[in-house]
Amino acid sequence: FFLLCTLVKIATLLFVYGSAHGSCPVLECWFMKEKVSGGLSGGPNQDKSLLYVHKHADSHRAESHDAPLEVNPDRLYFVTDPAATLCHRSLNPRRGSSNKPMCEINPLHPQPSTLELAVPLTEPALSPIYLHADWLSTALQSFDKTMSISAITRAPTGTKEHDVILTLTTKTVLVQSRLGAPVLLDCSFWADPSSPLTGTGFAVEWRYQFRGDGRLVLAYDGKSDRLSHTGEEGATLDFEALHGRGNASLILQEAKVHHSGIYICSVYLPYLQAQVAMELQVVEPPSLSIHPSPLPLTAQGQTINIQCEASGFAPLSLDLHWEFKGADGNTKVLGSGSLSSHRQLWDGTYTQSSRLELDTADLGRAGEVACVGVHPGGTRRVSVEINLIGFSSPSIEDSMAMVGVALVLYGLIKLVSWSFSGSGNNKTSIMWNGGKEKWRFLCG
Ligand SMILES: *[C@@H]1O[C@H](CO)[C@@H](O)[C@H](O)[C@H]1NC(C)=O
Repeated sequence: FFLLCTLVKIATLLFVYGSAHGSCPVLECWFMKEKVSGGLSGGPNQDKSLLYVHKHADSHRAESHDAPLEVNPDRLYFVTDPAATLCHRSLNPRRGSSNKPMCEINPLHPQPSTLELAVPLTEPALSPIYLHADWLSTALQSFDKTMSISAITRAPTGTKEHDVILTLTTKTVLVQSRLGAPVLLDCSFWADPSSPLTGTGFAVEWRYQFRGDGRLVLAYDGKSDRLSHTGEEGATLDFEALHGRGNASLILQEAKVHHSGIYICSVYLPYLQAQVAMELQVVEPPSLSIHPSPLPLTAQGQTINIQCEASGFAPLSLDLHWEFKGADGNTKVLGSGSLSSHRQLWDGTYTQSSRLELDTADLGRAGEVACVGVHPGGTRRVSVEINLIGFSSPSIEDSMAMVGVALVLYGLIKLVSWSFSGSGNNKTSIMWNGGKEKWRFLCG
C-alpha cells in the first residue's frame, strides 16, 4: 500500500509539473549580488536562483514547494511573460541534458538615460511610484548558443512576482558572411504595452566593437522617427518592421572585411535600456593561381621553380601547401614551400604567396603539381600538369664511359678507313652509318 501511495504521489507530481509548466521553462540562473561599497563582502558574490516562467500570472501556484533545497527561497522568482519570449524551446532543454542555457540576473535601478538620443524619451515626468519597485535585468543564452535574450522585469517592492517589461532577442549570436553578401544582424524587442514607460516612444542604437575599438553604427530615434546617426555606409533598419513588430535588425547591404567584429543592439525606453551582443565574421576563401602555367618542358632531375599566389582572402589564417599527384594516382605532400609575408589590399583582404623549388629527380615521368589553400572559408586548390623529358643528364661515370666508347669507335673508324683506303667515297659513307648504329646500340 505504501509503495502504491508513493507511486501515485510521484505520478501526480510529474503530471502537475508537466501541465503547470507547459513549454515555459524553470530557468536556473546566477543572481549577481551588488557590491557593497566600503564593506568587506563575506561569502560568494553570486547566488543560485530559479526563475519560474509563465505566460499568464495566474499560472503561478505554490511552485516554491518543489524548489530544490540548495536554492535560497529568497532567490525564487515568478515571472509572467505575456509575449512568451522566455518560453522559447532553446531555453528549455530536455531534462537531464548537460547543455543548459546560461542565465545571469542583476539587480537594476532604472535611471533617466544620459544618452543624447534617449533623453527626449524621459522628458514627460513619469510616475515615480511605478519606478519604485524591484527591478531585475536577466541575460540569457540558449543551450545551443544561437540565441541571446536580455529581459527586464519588475515586481512590486518586496514581492517575487515579476512582470516582463522589456525583452530584447537576437537569433544571430554568430554570423558568418561572404565578402559582398548582404548581412542581417537579428535583433527584436518586445515592450509591455500596458507599462507607462511604453507610451512615449523608444530608441535603438547599434554599436560596433573590434579589439577595443568602438564606434556608433546607427542610432534611431523612434519618437521622432529619425535616424539621428549613420556612421556606416550601407547600414540600415527596416523601419516598417521596427514599428510593426519591434524588429530592430541591422541590415548591412554588402559585407566588407572591416565589418567583422562584435555588434551591440540596444533598445531604450524611458529609464530602461536592454542590450544584446552578436558577432559578425566576414569570411572569404582565397583565389589561387600558379605561375608559370603551363610549366616549361623540363628534363627529369632538373629543379623547377613554381609560384602560387593566394589572394582576396580574409581573415588572415591560411595554410598554403603543395602536393604532387603522380601518374599512378598517389599523392605526395611537398610541404609549404617558401612563404611570403601577408599583404593587405585596399579592400581589407590579404595576399600571400609560396615558392616551391621542385626537385624532379624522383617524380616519375608525369603528374600534377597542386597548390592547396586551407582557409576557414573553405579549401581551394589549383594544379598544373608536369611532363618530364625522360632523359637523365649524364653522371661522371656515364661521361667517362662515353668518352671511352668514342675513342674505341674512333679507332674502329681509322681501322676501317685504312683497310678501304683508295676505294670510293660510297664506302666511307656506309661506314659512317654503321658508326651511328653503334652509338644507338651503346647508348640506348
Ligand atoms: C526583421 O526584418 C528583416 C528585414 O526586413 C527580415 O529579414 C527579418 O526576417 C525580420 N526578422 C523577424 C524575426 O521577423
